[in-house]
Amino acid sequence: MNNRSEFSSKLGFVLAAAGSAVGLGNIWRFPYLAAKYGGGLFLLMYVFFVVTFGFAIMTAEIAIGRKTQLSPIGAYTALNKKYGFIGVIASLVAFLILPYYSVIGGWVIKYFVTFLTGGQASTAQDTFFTSFIASPIEPVLWQILFVLATLAVVLKGVKDGIEKASKILMPVLIVLSVVVAIYSITLPGAMEGVKYFLIPDFSRFSIQSVLAALGQMFYSLSLAMGIMITYGSYLKKEDDLEKSVKQIELFDSGIAILAGFMVIPAVFAFSGGDEAALNAGPGLMFVTLPKVFNTMGMSTLVGSAFFLLVLFAALTSSISLMEAVVSTVCDQFKLERKKASILVAVTAVILGIPSSLGNGIWSEFKILNMNFLDLMDFITNAVLMPIGALLTCIFIGYVIKVKVISDEVKISSKFKREKVFTVMIKYIAPMCIVAILVTSVLSALGLLTL
Ligand code: PFF
Repeated sequence: MNNRSEFSSKLGFVLAAAGSAVGLGNIWRFPYLAAKYGGGLFLLMYVFFVVTFGFAIMTAEIAIGRKTQLSPIGAYTALNKKYGFIGVIASLVAFLILPYYSVIGGWVIKYFVTFLTGGQASTAQDTFFTSFIASPIEPVLWQILFVLATLAVVLKGVKDGIEKASKILMPVLIVLSVVVAIYSITLPGAMEGVKYFLIPDFSRFSIQSVLAALGQMFYSLSLAMGIMITYGSYLKKEDDLEKSVKQIELFDSGIAILAGFMVIPAVFAFSGGDEAALNAGPGLMFVTLPKVFNTMGMSTLVGSAFFLLVLFAALTSSISLMEAVVSTVCDQFKLERKKASILVAVTAVILGIPSSLGNGIWSEFKILNMNFLDLMDFITNAVLMPIGALLTCIFIGYVIKVKVISDEVKISSKFKREKVFTVMIKYIAPMCIVAILVTSVLSALGLLTL
């Protein structure tokens, strides 16, 4: 296994892993969840979960990858022959997320191009988004473009593709995020939004908000999908693992917080402080925000900058999804990288088409009252991901034992948070994961209203 690719430096690894973590989850999902579940309170819970569960599970996954130098299926099998199936679940999640993530990535390219070419006035119309995603051909073409961009990077491999792309895209993403956030919080009337986002309102506490924050944490940190195992397998033994995890978390929470600053104050300024404007759910970024940009000065510039940064965030995440699948295909079927990458990209395009058409000509076709894209999101994030995470905790805590992981971490780190790690993996994380799983399945079956 000594010819396995490697990141050339710890910085390269951190940027790539942070690139995976920072994505649509931070910029599109986090602000609307924060808006829905009480602003500051949600933020507080989110950060708490990141530094506890998030820290434990991310450390475990990266250590598994680095220890075994293998992609998920091989990694679990190497640690214990009977448990390779956990790797199968993890790889399956990445394989199923990639297609629909690319559909949304395609929408982002469309918005970026529309703003850049000065056509933004159309994006402010009520029907723009729904009629665009309902059309049968156009979104699929943008989706193909998004997959091709991802493929171009993955084809080039770990050092020349993923690491290089992350080193360019991530700094640009940070700079643009800071600029757009400053623009947003300095709009007249935006301060109310800043307060809403930062000051916790404990009267809005609910079990649902806790579960939403937990679920968001898993999704946002790209956990339980084989990604951190795959990237960990390219990490050098001498690179400080614990510190890397801290830095990745800092990036991820930092960009989520910046996204909150970009979106929530701008919407407040636009609506004259009416909180109802925040309740657009998933439409907040594609429907409400373009309206906000259109009423403000410099809309072409700010809108293009915003959608470019979202595009970069989405790209680095889809690169990680594709890489996790490609590296599994290479390892399991002994296929060379180029063939495996093309195969995975073609599959992602084909499997993504139903997710795209489900918003239009196939919208009648529903399972559990969900269209295809929502169904894929549900199966991966609400069902398979918690199952994978739960099995990972049980596997580490009770099958191979925590010490195996701690020893790997200690090769390069002091492992100051070892106690937190152990308690989380063995006791607290499994209980919370079961709670997420049960509530999300019951609510999808209509047995519980969230
Ligand atoms: N963490 C990414 C985000 O926040 O958008 C999304 C993601 C990437 C989820 C990779 C899952 C994954 F495997």
